Amino acid sequence: EANHRESLMIVSGFAAKFFQDSMWETDEGQSIGLSYFKERGFTPETIRKFELGYSPDQWEAFTSAAIKEGYQAQFLEETGLSVKRDNGSMYDRYRGRVMFPIHGFTGRVIAFGGRTLKSDKSVPKYVNSPESEIYHKSSVLYGLYFAKKAIRDEDNCYLVEGYADVLSVHQAGIENVVASSGTSLTVEQIRLIGRFTKNVTILYDGDAAGIKASLRGLDMILEEGLNVKVVSFPDGHDPDSYVRNVGTNAFKTYIDQNKKDFILYKTGILLKEAGNDPIRKAGVIREIVESIAKIPDSIKASVFVKECSHIMQIDERALLSELNKMRLTKA
Ligand code: UTP
Ligand code: MN
Ligand code: MN
Ligand code: MN
Ligand code: MN
Repeated sequence: EANHRESLMIVSGFAAKFFQDSMWETDEGQSIGLSYFKERGFTPETIRKFELGYSPDQWEAFTSAAIKEGYQAQFLEETGLSVKRDNGSMYDRYRGRVMFPIHGFTGRVIAFGGRTLKSDKSVPKYVNSPESEIYHKSSVLYGLYFAKKAIRDEDNCYLVEGYADVLSVHQAGIENVVASSGTSLTVEQIRLIGRFTKNVTILYDGDAAGIKASLRGLDMILEEGLNVKVVSFPDGHDPDSYVRNVGTNAFKTYIDQNKKDFILYKTGILLKEAGNDPIRKAGVIREIVESIAKIPDSIKASVFVKECSHIMQIDERALLSELNKMRLTKA
C-alpha cells in the first residue's frame, strides 16, 4: 500500500545519497568512481544531474550505514539494496561499482543499475535492482524523468539500449532520450512514450544484437500505432561511443543524415541478407508487408505501401492484395 511504497522510496533515496557521498567525498570514491565517469567523458554537471554514485568495495558499507540510520532491514531487502544470508545477516548487493540511479515519474529514485569496473568477463557488467513494489522493470524507461519535457517539445523520443547511451546523448544536448535498459523493449514502455509523443527514433547498438532488437522494436512500435525511424551505427559502436568518437556536432549531423523510416531500414537489412535470390527477395517483400499490416491506421499503411512499391520496384496493387490477405488471416 501507499505507506509501504513510500518506505521503499525513502530507503532508495537514502541509498542514492549514500552512493553519491561515497563517490564525491571519499578518496576511494574519487579515485575510482569519479575518475571512471570523467574518463568516460561525463561532465560534473551530467554526473550531478543524474545523481551518479559509487558503491564502496566492502561487504557491508551501505547496509551498516542504513541500519545505523534506522532503516528497517525489511525495506533494505525488498529494494534489493541488501541481500540476506542464510544466517540472517545482510550484505550489500552493490560493491565497488559505479551506480546509476533509476528515477520514477516524479524524479524519485526507485531502483539502481551498478556497473562493474573490472573487465573480467566472469562478473556481470551491470547488476540491476530486482522487481519490487516500486520498481516494475517492464514499465520503466531509464532517463524518462529527465527527458519528458524535451520529448514533448521535440515531439520525438530517441530510444537507446543503455545507461551510458542516455547520459552521453543527453550531454550532447539531445535531451529527448530514454533507454529500455536491462529488458528488451516492452509494450508498456512503448505506451509510456506514447503519452508524450507518437514519434520514436531507435538508436540501438551497431552490432548483431542491436539490429535484431531494433527490428523487433520496430514492429512493436508500429503495432502500438506510433511512428518509428531507425538510425544504425557503425558496427562496434553504440550512441555513447559514437558521440564520444566524433563529437556533438558530427553526431547530430550523423543522426539527421542516417535517419531511416522503417521501410527503408528493414528493406535495406533484409535485401542485403537475401542477395540476388528471387525467392528470398519475395520473402523480403512479404516481411515488409507484414510490418505494414501491423499499422492500425489504414491511411498511414497505404502511404507505406506506396513507398515500398517504389523502393522495391513492385506493383502497388500486388502489395495491396498481399496486405489484405495478411489482414484477413490476422483477423
Ligand atoms: P551493453 O552491453 O550495450 O552495455 O548493454 P553498455 O550500456 O554499452 O555499457 P558500457 O558502455 O560498456 O558501460 C546495454 C544495456 O543493457 C543492460 C544495461 O542497462 C546496459 O546499459 N545490461 C547490460 C544489463 O542490465 N546487464 C548486463 O550485464 C549488461
Ligand atoms: Mn505493500
Ligand atoms: Mn550491446
Ligand atoms: Mn552498448
Ligand atoms: Mn556502451
